[in-house]
Formats: sequence, structure tokens, C-alpha cells
Amino acid sequence: MSQTQGSTESGSTMESILDEHRHFKPSKAFSSNAHIKSMAEYEKMHKRSVDDPEGFWADVASELHWFKKWEEVLDWRLPDAKWFVGGTTNICYNCIDRQIDAGLGNHTAIVWEGEPIVDEDGHHAGGEPEVRKLSYYDLRREVSRFANALKGLGVQKGDVVTIYMPMVPELAIAMLACARIGAVHSIIFGGFSASAIRDRVEDGKSKIVITADGGWRRGKVVPLKDNVDEALTLTDLVDTVVVLERCQNDIHMVDGRDHWWSDLTATASEHCPAEEMYSEDLLFILYTSGSTGKPKGIMHTTGGYMVYTYLTSRYTFDLHPRQLCDEELNEQCRGDMYWCTADIGWITGHSYIIYGLLPNRVPTLMYEGAPDFPEKDRFWDIIERHKVTKFYTAPTAIRAFMKWGREWIDKHDISSLKVLGTVGEPINPEAWMWYHKVIGNEKCPIVDTWWQTETGGHMLTPLPGATTTTPGSCTKPFFGIDAAVVNSEGEEVGENEGGILVIRKPWPSMLRGIYGNRERFIETYWSKIEGFYTAGDGARKDENGNFWIMGRIDDVIVVAGHNLGTMEVESALVSHDAVAEAAVVGFPHEIKGTGIAAFATLVGGIEETDKLKAEIRDHVAKELGPISKPDKLRFTPALPKTRSGKIMRRLLRDIAAGREITGDVTTLEDKGIVEKLQKQTD
Ligand code: WTA
Repeated sequence: MSQTQGSTESGSTMESILDEHRHFKPSKAFSSNAHIKSMAEYEKMHKRSVDDPEGFWADVASELHWFKKWEEVLDWRLPDAKWFVGGTTNICYNCIDRQIDAGLGNHTAIVWEGEPIVDEDGHHAGGEPEVRKLSYYDLRREVSRFANALKGLGVQKGDVVTIYMPMVPELAIAMLACARIGAVHSIIFGGFSASAIRDRVEDGKSKIVITADGGWRRGKVVPLKDNVDEALTLTDLVDTVVVLERCQNDIHMVDGRDHWWSDLTATASEHCPAEEMYSEDLLFILYTSGSTGKPKGIMHTTGGYMVYTYLTSRYTFDLHPRQLCDEELNEQCRGDMYWCTADIGWITGHSYIIYGLLPNRVPTLMYEGAPDFPEKDRFWDIIERHKVTKFYTAPTAIRAFMKWGREWIDKHDISSLKVLGTVGEPINPEAWMWYHKVIGNEKCPIVDTWWQTETGGHMLTPLPGATTTTPGSCTKPFFGIDAAVVNSEGEEVGENEGGILVIRKPWPSMLRGIYGNRERFIETYWSKIEGFYTAGDGARKDENGNFWIMGRIDDVIVVAGHNLGTMEVESALVSHDAVAEAAVVGFPHEIKGTGIAAFATLVGGIEETDKLKAEIRDHVAKELGPISKPDKLRFTPALPKTRSGKIMRRLLRDIAAGREITGDVTTLEDKGIVEKLQKQTD
């Protein structure tokens, strides 16, 4: 039985597939079992949540564990929000102990799969991958041990702990251990380079780094420890490094500074009480790119973040935990198996692999490696073997799967899937339709979730049992979210008119600041339009009240779902000895959505060669990590500038996209440059 009405018949033309006015309604069968069953129910709850946010959020918060109840739900003094003021809780307790207290200690909390496919001798060939399942009991034991190890190393409440690890259970254990003892974690994505580690360590004044010898990616070892060693030659702030043994690759241990994870935890007690934290105590810092060179340390606190990620996880993915019944074979009893393919190093991993998921009592799956290792069907193989029901990934990945072809999917039974999610960048309607038909078999609602590192959780998203979806739209605001599209005066623009996306009321998981930089916090988010949070994205709202994200309106580009500041890449380019000046813009890219196009002028006398081009691109990858490597690089004797010296990015964007140059070029200083640039190949 098809669960989606109005799905496309085979043989329909591309135009009809891409018809913006196509609407997909969840089936009655799906809706009747969902938490939120209809648009009427959504609207009623949404109205209450914005009319009476304090009552709404107090009800949600009451479902979780608090040592001491709050005195006030919200204290809002623009731009500062305090939620659940005076209340004390611990998010690690809510992720783990609360389930044990409810008698669910033996239920699965985390399912992890390593990348290598190993045979009996541990060689990479055929065979079964390594799988580890941790119950809430297991997780509490491991987290407590590591928490005690951290205490033994002198880590105290409020200290910033840097974590730079592969996607292994110990990454989750390390972050939860920090939360358990009230230390603030700052997780750095394992794809970042030494200088990114140095910058973040210094910004957070962090004295301890948790890492691993390496992690597996596409059959190779990512040398995490070597990167940390290199970073620590650039700063002397760090006096302690903890090293997990994952790949058994050759690494160098520094006496007195470096400790093995296994040594520390072998002797540590498995009992560690969860620290009583104030709701507004800092939980973590996570760095994100901005429109200036320096990444911003986004601050999230405990109570509001916990409550918001808990509720969004439940409703956006329509999560259902395993029931306390013996009928393991009964689908209803078995409950969900949830898999988000993001790395924990990004906000998606923080909120929707760990913090929002575990309190919902649904197992969360973690996978260490690449989607095309050993073959291009790895994800579908994982879904089949673990019977994944809820799947959350990025449009970039979906476009890659489309390109690889459906034969990889057809090899597997992925009929366990029920809800499909996307995040990180706009999803083009072709990719949406492919996801809907080939992965979802036209029966799984798709949730296109718009949100940001700064927002902590989903802001605009369909709810699977209620929302009628349209390919390319992230539809409606979540509960408690008052979103609008406005002009520069803060007035709402008309239907289908483009404008600035703003949030007009505080929500529980909003960022509390930029670490160590109050001015930048106010300047970036609160000064564009008085009284509103500006997200940096442009959007429009259609005649059905659905939102459509139109892309960034600042100098941030979203490449393969990762937020990059063009300034950061420009700084990395000019740090190469041969480069005098550089400009970076985004261009449409088949797989990544947006690619990076760089333009550089060379230092006088240096010859423009292909070899140098490759060297400069590699240099950026080394400085910032592989995701920041420019896809295109063109040399130019000068950058196109206005007479007042501003780089004309609009022009560069046209050139990079191979488009005709549109708009006014009369303010350009030297028109000859543009012609030269257009003639070049990459
Ligand atoms: C973009 C990722 C369109 C957007 C959770 C936002 C999206 C930035 C979507 C935040 C979506 C994220 N549709 N664009 N569903 N989701 N974006 O901080 O430009 O890594 O501002 O958070 O990604 O990226 P960040």
C-alpha cells in the first residue's frame, strides 16, 4: 500500500516532477500512529507554544529529570535569554540515568559500526564489520570511568575540554563524561587540520585535548594524533593529551603530557555521580564559520538546549521507543532504530546523534567511515543489517547516491525505513524526488530541516505525520518558533517575496553568545534588524505559509552542508608565499551544492603554472582541512574592484558559474581584468 497520496506515476515528465506545487500528504496509516497527527493539531500546538511559551516549555521540561525545579521559565532581556532559571539538572543524567531509573538499563543506547570490514585475522577483506552495542548500563559505566579519569587529570567543572576524535563510541563517551562532571566540551571535527585545532584551543583556553591515534576513513588511517602534535607545536597552552587506541598506527607519545585512554580508564571507578548543573551553565562551545576570518565559538547552555533538542528529536523524527513487551518481533514493540550520518563534530551530531536522541530512549546508530567503503552500498547495507527506521543525512550525500546509481540500493532490503531527513543546505527538487522514490519507496515522509549551529535545534521543519510537504521547502516553524521573512526595516514582506529570515521570539536552545566576544555576538545576530535574531539566510514564504530558504546573505558559503567563511579560505590562500591577494566565492556544484572558486594574484615575478595551482589548493587543504580546498583556482593579475577598493564578488560569482555577467559594472576600476578572467579555464 502506498503511504503517500499524490506521488508521481512512473513515466511522468521532469517538469511535472519538479512542479513546485506538488504536495505530498502523509498517509492516514502513518498519521494515525504519529505523535502529531494532523495540521490542525500542529496549528493548535504551535499557537499555544508561541502565545504561552512559558507554559508550553514548562510542560516539556517537566518530562525530564531536574534535581531542583526552576523558579522562572524564561528571563528575556534582548539579546539574552535565560531558560528554566534557578533549576538544576544534568544532561548526561537525562541521556543515561533517567532510562536506568525507569527500568530500561538493558535497552540499547548506542549502536556503533566501524568502517573496516575485517576477516578473522583482522585483515581488511570480506567478513563482518565490527559492531558494538552499548546499553544504558554499559554507557553509564564507560562514561563514569572516563569522567573519573578526567577528574584524575585535574579537570574541573567549567574547564574547557577539547575533543578531536573519530566517530567511535568513545567520542560519545568523552562528551557525555564532560557533561556529567560539568566540564565544557569543544569538539573539533576530525577533518580539520592542525591550525584549526590550535585556533580553537587558544580561543577556548583549553588545556586538555582528547584524541585517538587515528580513525578509519575509506580504508586509510586519518592521523589525528599527528595533527594534534603539530597543533601543539603552535601553542603551549595544552599540558594534557588523552589518546584512544583505535587504529594501532605508529604515533609518538610525549612523556608527561600524553596518556593512553585505556590506562586511565583501567583503574578508574565506574561510579561517578552526575554533577548538579544550573540550567544556564555552559554545556559546550562549538565553532562555526563567520563572515570574518576567525571562527565563532557558539555557546550552548544546559537546560534549554536539553529540552529543545529532546522535543525536536521526538516530533521531527516521530520517534517511538521500544516498548516494555516481550514481543520483539512485533514492529510496534521493537520501536525505532535511528541513524544520523553526520559527524558528531558538527552541531547535527551534537543535537541529533547524542543529546536530543538519548533522552528519547531510541537507539542511536553511529558509523565511523565513508559511504563508499568498501563499496558504494555501505549505507544501504547498514540500514538493512540494523533495520534502521529513521534516517537523517545531507543533500550532498543524496546527490552522490543519485550519481552512483540505484543498483547499489537495489541490492538491499531497506524497507525498514519510515522517515527520511535532510539537513545542512537547500535540497534541490530533483534530489528530493529521488530520495522520496528510490530510498523512501514513496512511503516515507521527508523532513527537510532548516536550522543552524546557533539555533541548537530544528527551527523550520515538517512533522512527518502532519505536514504536507513540497520538494525544496522546509515548510513550517517548529513549536515555540516565531519565524518571519522581513525587509531591512523588519517589516514582513509579501507572499513569495524574498527577504531576510528572522526569528522574533526567544527559544530554549538559542545560542547564548560567542565565546569571549560579546560585541561580535550582538553585531552578527542582533543588530541587522532591531529586536530580531537574524540568521544570515534569505528566504521566502509561499501562499501556503511554507518557507523556502534562498541561501546565505553574508560571506558564508555552505559547501557540502558545511558552513565555510569565504574570508577563512582567503586568509589561507594568502598565507601561501606565492599569493599576494585572493578572493573566494561559491558556485553551483553538481554534488556539493556549492563549490569553492578562488581567484588569486601572485607575488611579482612568480610564474603562473598548473603545478603552483595544485600546490596552492593543497596548501589550503592543509591549513583548514580538506573540506575547504578550492574546487577551482584562477590566477589573475588583479582582482576586480570598485573604485573604492571593494572586491566585486557578484562579478566573481558570475565568472565562477560560467554565467554571463549581469548588472552594473560601471564602478569597476579595470574592466580588462574581467575579460581576462573569463577566458581562463580552471
Ligand atoms: C544552511 C547545520 C537550506 C543555512 C544544521 C544555515 C540549510 C546553515 C538547511 C547553517 C536546510 C541548514 N535548507 N539551508 N534544510 N539547513 N542550512 O551552522 O544556510 O552548519 O544558515 O548548521 O546551513 O549551517 P550549520
